[in-house]
Amino acid sequence: MDTTHRLSRLTLMLHWLVATAMIAMTILGFWLWFVESGTPERRLTMDLHKSIGTLVLVVAFARVVWRLRVGLPPAADMSASARQVRLAHAAHMALLAVTVAMPVSGLMRSIGGGYGLVVFGVPVVEKGPKYELVADIGAVVHQAAAYLLVVLVVLHVAAAIKHHVVDRDSTLDRMLGRSVAGGA
Ligand code: HEM
Ligand code: HEM
Repeated sequence: MDTTHRLSRLTLMLHWLVATAMIAMTILGFWLWFVESGTPERRLTMDLHKSIGTLVLVVAFARVVWRLRVGLPPAADMSASARQVRLAHAAHMALLAVTVAMPVSGLMRSIGGGYGLVVFGVPVVEKGPKYELVADIGAVVHQAAAYLLVVLVVLHVAAAIKHHVVDRDSTLDRMLGRSVAGGA
């Protein structure tokens, strides 16, 4: 159970697991732009990107389904106005959406492009015919959502720091699993 004083272990674990993976995957994705095609380094980086990304989809999808059922945690900042709470929820829903949109569009791009899918050496989807439209939509969404992700995460981290340093409330401490004054 998430309360204003304390977040459940599941919330903490899923937040930091998905957050770390999304940040690492974004760096890896942009890194791919600079790796020369046809080289072993390129194949290795691409395989790693696709393998980790597919696992992220499984975890992120489960998290989103769970969040849609139980809702987002109540605000830690007791002085937050209804408008601030709505804004935070909208930002968190957008972050949740990109954690699913990124891997789904990546898969559309790869499978639609006829490349199939191999996850850590295990063939999951055979190489096959191309579905140009699927691949094109995947590529456009993957790139657009990547830029959106960067903007959202920068704002998100800035908000966390602002809560901690300026407002001096327990928002960040709670997400770090620290016990918060008044809480059980
Ligand atoms: C260093 C990076 C990060 C920090 C310091 C951070 C910090 C926080 C904090 C303090 C909260 C609690 C907000 C509240 O109480 O209302 C939160 C919630 C949340 N964060 Fe992050 N975050 C980081 C990275 C990310 C990333 C990369 C994502 C997704 C791409 C993400 C997605 C979310 C979501 C969806 C919530 C809502 C609560 C939940 O569903 O668990 N965060 N984050
Ligand atoms: C889990 C979250 C993921 C994130 C955050 C992510 C992020 C990125 C980023 C930032 C780029 C560079 C921008 C672009 O070219 O569009 C990229 C490229 C790419 N991603 Fe992902 N990705 C994820 C998952 C996946 C998955 C699951 C696949 C496929 C199975 C995939 C396949 C690709 C491909 C094929 C490229 C193009 C590389 C190139 O041609 O330079 N991605 N990704």
